[in-house]
Amino acid sequence: MFNHFESPLIMRYNFDEIIDRSNTASVKYDLRQQVFGDAAVLPMWVADMDFRTPDFIMNAIRKRAEHEILGYSIRTEAWFNALIAWLKRRHNWEVKQEWITYTPGIVPAIIMSVVAFSNPGDRVIVQPPVYFPFFDAVKNHGRNLVYNPLIMENGRYRMDYDGLEKLCKEGAAMILLSNPHNPAGNAWTPEELGRLADICLKYGVIIASDEIHSDLVNRGYKHTVMASLSPEVAASIITMMAPSKTFNLAGMATSSVIISNPELKKKFDAVLEGWHVGMGNLFGNVASEAAYNYGEEWLEQLLDYIDGNISALMDFAEKHLPQVRVIRPEATYMAWLDFSKTGMDSAELKEFVIKKAGLGLNEGIQFGPGGEGYMRMNLACPRSVVMKALLQLKAAFGE
Ligand SMILES: Cc1ncc(COP(=O)(O)O)c(C=O)c1O
Repeated sequence: MFNHFESPLIMRYNFDEIIDRSNTASVKYDLRQQVFGDAAVLPMWVADMDFRTPDFIMNAIRKRAEHEILGYSIRTEAWFNALIAWLKRRHNWEVKQEWITYTPGIVPAIIMSVVAFSNPGDRVIVQPPVYFPFFDAVKNHGRNLVYNPLIMENGRYRMDYDGLEKLCKEGAAMILLSNPHNPAGNAWTPEELGRLADICLKYGVIIASDEIHSDLVNRGYKHTVMASLSPEVAASIITMMAPSKTFNLAGMATSSVIISNPELKKKFDAVLEGWHVGMGNLFGNVASEAAYNYGEEWLEQLLDYIDGNISALMDFAEKHLPQVRVIRPEATYMAWLDFSKTGMDSAELKEFVIKKAGLGLNEGIQFGPGGEGYMRMNLACPRSVVMKALLQLKAAFGE
């Protein structure tokens, strides 16, 4: 868990430790054969981390497990206080308990938002390349998916405000926003979010802001909670937050939806209650309360480590991978790699990455229009694994 104490009070966590996750019913490891046709690829796809869950979370889970009765559970006052204090400390966002609703994951929350705030046939805007479950959340529920693609400019994506205004004007019920942005790692600025909000508010378009990566903002950048921009924005927005990426608790399926507008909250809760999935997960509650109460020191060390992994990738790519352009993530632990210089089409690129480089990455095309020629690489792993992956990539190009 730790390799030394720097001071009697500060624990040094060891992110270099290699932990074998195979045969632990892990999506990232145990679905490799199924997804890549090769169980031996280095898995750098699904967005979870290969780091040990920190001691303060594991201890809380163990302590609760010792009680040995795992009946129906509630989120206590202490649980709400832990989340509210975290949002205030980390994001300077003041949230009231009555704004918070539990959901068993953020993807379910996105789907519930689509169902609650649009009608079949309505248009729902997404800004690709973007986290791909957004697409099915819209399409599987009989809504119309409309794209306002991001524009790549000087190595960074920006939003197309003219395109957005046009779509809003033509009539759209809502927009699904990834803030920070997955896969390109934009930590959207207050100015960018403000411009988007102005357009959406002008046309009465509801904003569903997926802020699952909000705690994972890299050094030199800042997360802006979109709802904190102004009371007007807050009145038109659904914010989704979770400890699952921050503390590697995705398997706990525990997240929160925060809605300050009582009318919108009522609509959302009606969908959640309609499916009777609002009770929550006992261990998810225990784990997230411990994470929010005690997780700051660990998170700071994690962010330093990820920053180091990003720098290692950037340095290596600059020196040894002229074929690949790396979009440095401002947030998230994912890197967006542009292989378009190689001239490979999507099928060739997939084959090259899996068969020649031995890597399990997410294909850019999964993220919709604009993802062609890209791959997403998960850097939340020991640095030695990042370096191994890069050497494999270099060797593949050398062949
Ligand atoms: C932007 C984004 N939203 C949601 C999720 C998944 O959320 P959950 O596992 O809580 O459904 C992910 C996971 O990668 C993500 O990147």
